[in-house]
Amino acid sequence: MRKIKKLNVKLGTENSYPIYIGDNLLINFPSYINQFKNYSKIIIVTDKNVNRYYKKILFKFKKNLGEKLVVEIMSSGEKTKSFKSLAFLCENILKKKIDRNSLIICLGGGVIGDLVGLTSNLLLRGIDLVQIPTTLLSQVDSSVGGKTAINSKYGKNLIGTFKQPNSVIVSIDTQQTLKKREIFSGYAEILKYALIEDKKFFIWLKKNGKNLINLNQESLVYAILQSCKIKSKIVSKDEKEKGIREILNFGHTFGHAIESFTNFGKVTHGEAVIMGMYLALKFSVFLKFCKKIILDDFETHLNELKINYKLKDYKIKISPKTFIKHLWFDKKVNNKKLKFILIKDFGKTKSYIVKNETEILKFLKNDLT
Ligand code: NAD
Ligand code: GLY
Repeated sequence: MRKIKKLNVKLGTENSYPIYIGDNLLINFPSYINQFKNYSKIIIVTDKNVNRYYKKILFKFKKNLGEKLVVEIMSSGEKTKSFKSLAFLCENILKKKIDRNSLIICLGGGVIGDLVGLTSNLLLRGIDLVQIPTTLLSQVDSSVGGKTAINSKYGKNLIGTFKQPNSVIVSIDTQQTLKKREIFSGYAEILKYALIEDKKFFIWLKKNGKNLINLNQESLVYAILQSCKIKSKIVSKDEKEKGIREILNFGHTFGHAIESFTNFGKVTHGEAVIMGMYLALKFSVFLKFCKKIILDDFETHLNELKINYKLKDYKIKISPKTFIKHLWFDKKVNNKKLKFILIKDFGKTKSYIVKNETEILKFLKNDLT
């Protein structure tokens, strides 16, 4: 078997945790959880799609652990990040008589990860959490860093907390059952890391991107490891997003507005991020922070991989005024100012506060395609 990679997210002694990356880790997941045997109750929360693929493994553990293990299955999709699901999950878990020595394990993509992370932080004022991400996006992004959230009618991820997991277990074989669309969504976040932090990684992606989306194991492991390294380095410096961590939101201000406009579900989070990064790069060029060649490189790369990145590719029509309305719901709005993470060069970002609405309106009038 391929060697398992281990990466530590350093957050000060109490909150630090390991990320394990390897193949087929699920069949032996307890061995990646510290003191597994000592937990009084283990709640695994997953979604209907994921359960279809891992039912047998879960059943095997259920047979061994008996009453100690409880499996909760939620609906899949962005709409599950709601108050309704949160209440349902909390009550259902409480019914199973958990105590402070219980462990919640999240087995699923970013939706389940965000919901279950929040649940684990609220129940009994916080019980242990382990993330077993099963989508490429959740393996390179949402399972690491401790952000948890549900959505509000006012926008994306507006209700949430920080809750770091005790460990993250990335088993790359879970990619095999993902739809192409979900692989592309994960690729969006991988590309984000390269753009904001690592020009060499972008060059690597240009060479290996095709292998990666075709799920070549070596490429997958390298890209997941590299992404987790970049994310954990940033999170280690700024766990609660008081500064540098905001660069991880590159493409997300536009992206969240697209998700909110399309009513959370028409496009995946990754698709919204890829459109958002395209707009953020165009905005960077529009403001003359960045040379057009960077935008051209981005477009050429995605065209080669046949990944769509324009609003019209996803049949989204939105007027500049409506777009701005949705931009205002972003968490980065501060002091009634819109804030964007923009790009100066590969690996160099700039935090930019929009001077006035006319400026962004002018950009959107020309470039909202
Ligand atoms: P997702 O959880 O909705 O998963 C995508 C789809 O794939 C779902 O239908 C799911 O049921 C299915 N699926 C999951 N694993 C599978 C597998 N192994 N095989 C087959 N199907 C599988 O979406 P996602 O892209 O993983 O995550 C997106 C969410 O993550 C968004 O809500 C976004 O806001 C959030 N997010 C959070 C953070 C963070 O730091 N907390 C970072 C990035 C994204
Ligand atoms: N996905 C952005 C962050 O974790 O900060």
